[in-house]
Amino acid sequence: MLAANPLCEADVTQEVLKVLISEADIQARVAELARQISKDYENSGELVMVGVLKGAFIFLADLSRQLTIPRVIEFIAVSSYGRGSRSSGAVRLVMDVRGNIEGKHVLIVEDIVDTGHTLEYLIGMINSHGPAVKTCALVRKADCAEVHVDLDYLGFDIPNEWVVGYGLDYAEKNRTLPYIGIITPAD
Ligand code: IMP
Ligand code: MG
Repeated sequence: MLAANPLCEADVTQEVLKVLISEADIQARVAELARQISKDYENSGELVMVGVLKGAFIFLADLSRQLTIPRVIEFIAVSSYGRGSRSSGAVRLVMDVRGNIEGKHVLIVEDIVDTGHTLEYLIGMINSHGPAVKTCALVRKADCAEVHVDLDYLGFDIPNEWVVGYGLDYAEKNRTLPYIGIITPAD
């Protein structure tokens, strides 16, 4: 059991085999991304950050609080994986954004890009509203890409392993770990 912080132990349901990205490394990279995004959108007015539920909730919270530009927060929910790690195939919209994003600068904030289908679907959907859309993901499994999606901001490239923590889950568990760790899914 690798959860150093006792507050997190209750969310470790399965042995985390290895810490892949430490809490300190995540925090340092999030700060860098926030600086870059703040610079790029300096004179663009209000940025609409669209967090992809559920996995991006912690990343979005940390990233958005470090920006130095005007921003508002929206959420969108899609479903592509069932319980555990098996893909259920098609991407389905579960909850749309509430606010009006017509003609706005939108940044999609995603936890992880695996095959790329989810982000491809979201870019297409949000583009249909006509805003200027960019993408930001905390991690990407580069070897798993089935479709190419343009990522404007990326935290880390990682190997093809199932990762949990910092918002990422395995069967809804392990989301609140402060680091990103590797587990072996049971299914
Ligand atoms: P994609 O459509 O294959 O790119 O998958 C994207 C979604 O799959 C992510 O938003 C996650 O919800 C989920 N996912 C893919 N790989 C992992 C992982 O290693 N850990 C947790 N969730 C993952
Ligand atoms: Mg996700």
